[in-house]
Amino acid sequence: MARVFVTRRLPTDGLAVLRDHEIVFGSEDDRTLDPAELCAGAREADAMICLLTDKIDLNVLEAGRDRLKVVANVAVGVDNIDLAAAEKLGIKVCATPGVLDETTADLAFALILAASRLTANAESDLRGGRWKGFRMDQFLGRDVHGATLGLVGYGRIARAVARRASGFGMRVLHHARRDTGCAGYVDSLDALLPQVDVLSLHVPGNRETLKLIDARRLALLRETAVLVNTARGPVVDEEALAIALEEGRLFAAGLDVYEREPQVHPRLLAAPRTVLLPHIGSATLDTRSAMVSLAASGVAQILSGQTPPNLVSGPASTELNRF
Ligand code: GLV
Repeated sequence: MARVFVTRRLPTDGLAVLRDHEIVFGSEDDRTLDPAELCAGAREADAMICLLTDKIDLNVLEAGRDRLKVVANVAVGVDNIDLAAAEKLGIKVCATPGVLDETTADLAFALILAASRLTANAESDLRGGRWKGFRMDQFLGRDVHGATLGLVGYGRIARAVARRASGFGMRVLHHARRDTGCAGYVDSLDALLPQVDVLSLHVPGNRETLKLIDARRLALLRETAVLVNTARGPVVDEEALAIALEEGRLFAAGLDVYEREPQVHPRLLAAPRTVLLPHIGSATLDTRSAMVSLAASGVAQILSGQTPPNLVSGPASTELNRF
């Protein structure tokens, strides 16, 4: 019987596939474990199931070098895991590609609509007693139907957003590092930016995408444009975004992810025309259950000597890692 260390509370149905193994939870109260606790867990387990809030760095992986065979992240992104160190130490990494595409695309589209139509500002005025009745010039947003959507990254989630956009009569362009061969491909990000009304980000969080949308690129967007980020926070320079919004150089932003979660840049919190959500892209009951089941089945397969389909064999293998 192998020992599986589960860092956080998870819906236990999804762990059923591991019923023949010993499952040990990291804490009673579902808090984020500190580095020492992660190392201790890794040292005494054959497998680890973790969340994107767990930093699985070289120290944690080295602590597991004698026993740990697999780390399964209950997320499609694996930017919290040192993949190079895992590979060097022969520790396999699994993720949850495929099962959250539609749910995350739903949320991206919700942000496209909410940010474009200023729903957060409007609701907050209503709740705060500041709504004095219908006026023609109140909360004037931007039309989503007929607008041009620019997708940065063109993996499964971006394509799912594109499908929704076509239902809204949007024109869809996209940029990815390699030519996708699909209609709407724009080979340079800088050339895409001035053409779009809505920019939605779908790239992995890594060194290459760090602050991909910085002050210079924000300045290439139209003043009427809307920026949506459901990928990873560090892809956008939050302070530069807040300044662009303050100065009216960007119409609105809808964000689900942040540079230093759970902290949100205070200037962004105070910036006008924002919809700010607490990293809920995949947060539906069905999708979260499917993610846990997929992570757990990856662990079960590795423990029985098989190669699971959700194995991360390199930075190009998961949805969020395709840019
Ligand atoms: C969520 O952000 C994920 O990577 O699954």
